[in-house]
Amino acid sequence: MTEQITLRQETQDDFKDVFEVNHTAFGQDNEAKLVGALRNNSAVFVPELSIVAIENNKIIGHILFTKIKIKDRNGNLHESLGLAPMAVRPEFQKKGIGGQLIRKGFEAAKDLGFKSIIVLGHEHYYPKFGFEPADKWNIKAPFDVPSNVFMAIELVKDGLKHIGNGYLPKRI
Ligand SMILES: CC(C)(COP(=O)(O)OP(=O)(O)OC[C@H]1O[C@@H](n2cnc3c(N)ncnc32)[C@H](O)[C@@H]1OP(=O)(O)O)[C@@H](O)C(=O)NCCC(=O)NCCS
Repeated sequence: MTEQITLRQETQDDFKDVFEVNHTAFGQDNEAKLVGALRNNSAVFVPELSIVAIENNKIIGHILFTKIKIKDRNGNLHESLGLAPMAVRPEFQKKGIGGQLIRKGFEAAKDLGFKSIIVLGHEHYYPKFGFEPADKWNIKAPFDVPSNVFMAIELVKDGLKHIGNGYLPKRI
């Protein structure tokens, strides 16, 4: 376990480093640019849910959760969160930092009253933190993806219960 990792909300001074962490982890700019675009979208951005991991005053990881809507079978919209992207500098990976970021995000999201999180990601990684295929709740992705990589978690009991047969609209 890496020692003395601090997790805290991202500030404006971190933007450059967060770009760099995403760029380095993904080996391309797409996700780093996505973070910038989501940050500038006040309809979805929640400042408390852009979280950085710091070691020795250096940002080594970042995770972002933004607001999404799930539409139920009656057309009602339910607020949820999308986890994306998350990144840890390659030399700090596989030390549990990603896990710490996820758990910190769960806590912060719960404190803000969010009831669930959706993620499109690795089917062996996210289940370690409690994510399950979203089709358990009959929630569908707005695009074609294998059902095991489109996952969800309830932050509170029955947080997704009444959304059966829901799906994520492409754009709200
Ligand atoms: C995905 C990513 C954020 C995970 O970050 P991480 O800090 O490596 O994550 P963790 O350390 O919590 O878990 C990674 C693995 O290390 C293992 N691990 C956790 N704690 C560990 C420890 N103390 N010692 C050794 N291994 C550990 C985990 O079980 C996990 O195992 P797995 O490889 O079988 O899945 C990171 O790999 C990354 O930035 N990847 C590139 C970008 C990306 O793909 N992002 C996700 C899509 S948005």
